[in-house]
Parts: sequence; C-alpha cells; structure tokens
Amino acid sequence: MQRVRHTDAAEFAQRPHLEIGDRAHADLEMLATGAYSPLSGFIGEADYLSVIKHLRLADGTPWSLPITLPVGAEQAEGLSGTVVLTRGGVAVGLVEVQEKYRARKAYEAREVYRTEDAAHPGVAALYAQGDVNLAGPVTLFEVPRGAFPRHHRTPAEVRAVIEARGWRSTVAFQTRNPIHRAHEYLHKVALELVDGLLLHPLVGTTKGDDVPAETRVEAYEVLLDGYYPQARTLLSVYPAAMRYAGPREAIVHALSRRNYGATHFIVGRDHAGVGSYYGTYDAQDIFGTFSQEELGIQILKFEHTFYCKTCGQLVSPRTCPHDASHHLVLSGTKVREKLRAGENLPPEFTRPPVAEVLRKAYASQD
Ligand code: ADX
Repeated sequence: MQRVRHTDAAEFAQRPHLEIGDRAHADLEMLATGAYSPLSGFIGEADYLSVIKHLRLADGTPWSLPITLPVGAEQAEGLSGTVVLTRGGVAVGLVEVQEKYRARKAYEAREVYRTEDAAHPGVAALYAQGDVNLAGPVTLFEVPRGAFPRHHRTPAEVRAVIEARGWRSTVAFQTRNPIHRAHEYLHKVALELVDGLLLHPLVGTTKGDDVPAETRVEAYEVLLDGYYPQARTLLSVYPAAMRYAGPREAIVHALSRRNYGATHFIVGRDHAGVGSYYGTYDAQDIFGTFSQEELGIQILKFEHTFYCKTCGQLVSPRTCPHDASHHLVLSGTKVREKLRAGENLPPEFTRPPVAEVLRKAYASQD
C-alpha cells in the first residue's frame, strides 16, 4: 500500500503539472491512505476493462468502480513519468504515469451506471471528463483535513480508535443525507448486534441539491450528542465523491469501510441511488456475486424503514402489519421541498434538534 509521504514539492518543479478537481483529489487521498486498498493508484487499462465487465480487478479481486484520472487527449501528450498534481496551483501529490489509455465512456456508463442518460449525475460527470485516463501509483503530500479537522481520519486512524475502544465488531454506515429516524433505527438495530458504530458520512462532491456536508456534519454532531451512546459511536468523514452508481457503488462503499476497520456494513433501500435508475434492493442483491470471504466484510441488509402511526414506532414491511395509509414516508425531494418552504419536518421523521439545524441552514440560503 502506498503511504502518505511528506515531500519537498520544490524537488518536482521541473516535472509536468496537472491541476485536479475535487473528485480526483479525494480519490488521490483514498488511494494513498489505503481507503481504496487493494488499489494503490489510478487503475490501468486491464483493470479498467475488467472492473467494468466483471466487477473484479484483472487478478480477480472484487472491485466495482473504475478509479481513473481522466484528462483531455491533447493534455495527455505532455503528461508522462512523474506528474505533479495540483489544487489551485499548490502541489498536493504525484502520480507516476505508467499508462495512458482511451476511456470507453458509453460502455462505462452502460455497465457501471446502468444508463447512458446524461441526466444521471454520475453519467453527466463521466461525460464531462477528458477522454484519456492516466494510470499509475500515487503519492499524497498531506491528508487534506480542511473542512472537518475534528472528524477527518485516515483508515489507520479509524482502526486505531476502534482498537483503543476494544470493539470486536464495528458496523459502518454510509450516508450522504442528514440522519433521519429511519437511519437511526438501522444504527440502533445494528448496535444491538455489534460493539461499535462507525458513522461515516460521505463529504466529497455530491449533486447540487443534496444537503451540503457542513450542514450535515452539524446535524450529526447534535444528534450524536443527544441520542447515541458516546462510547459506542464514532463520527468520522468519508472523503470520496458520490457517484450515484447504486449497486456498483455499494460494493466500493463496503470494501473501503472494511479498510477503515469495519466488520459489518449497512445496505438499506436504494443505496447510493438517484432518481429511479435502480431497483429498491439492487444494491443488496449485487452482493450475491461475491462470497463474504472475498469481501472481508459482512453486509447487514435492511428493508425500507419508516414510521407507522398505528404501531407508534419505526418499522419495516418485515415488522409492521398495517397498510401504507398508516405510514409516514417522505422522499428526499419532499424533505427538501419542506425545508425550502421553511416548514418543520415531522418529529416522527426527523428529531427536532436535527430538523432545527436543517431549517436554519435552509433559511439562511434565502
Ligand atoms: S446513500 O446515497 O448514501 O446511500 P442515504 O444517505 O439516504 O443515501 O442512505 C444511507 C444508507 O441508509 C443506505 O444504505 C440506504 O440504503 C439506507 N437507507 C436510507 N433510508 C432508508 C430507509 N428509509 N429504509 C431503509 N434503509 C434506508
């Protein structure tokens, strides 16, 4: 695994430079810190084609999303050997370019995102990228802990906390949303079975109408303070960008949480989905492709969870006998509409202190 290296950037002044965006910077960090292990660099063509076709690297190891460094075809010509990666002109790392190859965008969209529709945010990002992928091992100069220094930990740092707390089993939870009651229900059911909860919200790039990470982190802190067992919960951020690749992304989400030291990973309804591109449980079913041994993490699958007014509690179709007229279900779109209109979210859906953080954040947007 490539380790983070602190290097004098001046020694690379003569090398070609490449300005990268948020997603590539996040991937650089994920690769360099071992969060994407066994990957230690942007993938080459054999792995690229194998991942797209077989959901495995060329050597057969499970991996489901191409982690690539795309550039324009002309730009690619000037990028060989050690290339310095910059953000706003500041050197943040290196890639040793070992290969350059043509991205197969339509094929990648069809197989990875299951659609070529440019309205899909992951597909739109793919189409907007350059046509040539650079591949090779990476070096990160410094872990970019900027936005959330208190909650930003590398996999080794998360594993150290887990060890210090003596958790023999840890369930990780991916989210790109505020924690609503349904999410909390999943956490607490899981905490009945395992020692610790790694609340691991994704804070990389998300689509424009998702709740911004700054607001979410404030809401997570408020919720954890009031309603979660402190000694059995760890809030830490997951730096990667969201791809919205549904089932394919669920696999990488699980594999990388294994790298952070989790033994279990929650996959609920429409994990990493967007619009209606994926079936509600596609992201659970896809795990049938792999054995638990090769994944190295156990998947905890949950059905759609919601509040039942008659049961007076959070339920799922597995536990509630009442029909939909008894249930309180709000879509993400509906939640955002309510927030934009300055309305309160029902307490059965979102705990009031969390709703208050969201309400204030939306009110300050006007
Ligand atoms: S995601 O893009 O990060 O998957 P979200 O933050 O909404 O979106 O979901 C986080 C996790 O909780 C996913 O595993 C998702 O399947 C699960 N989940 C979200 N809402 C529900 C729900 N109402 N019932 C069951 N699982 C849910």
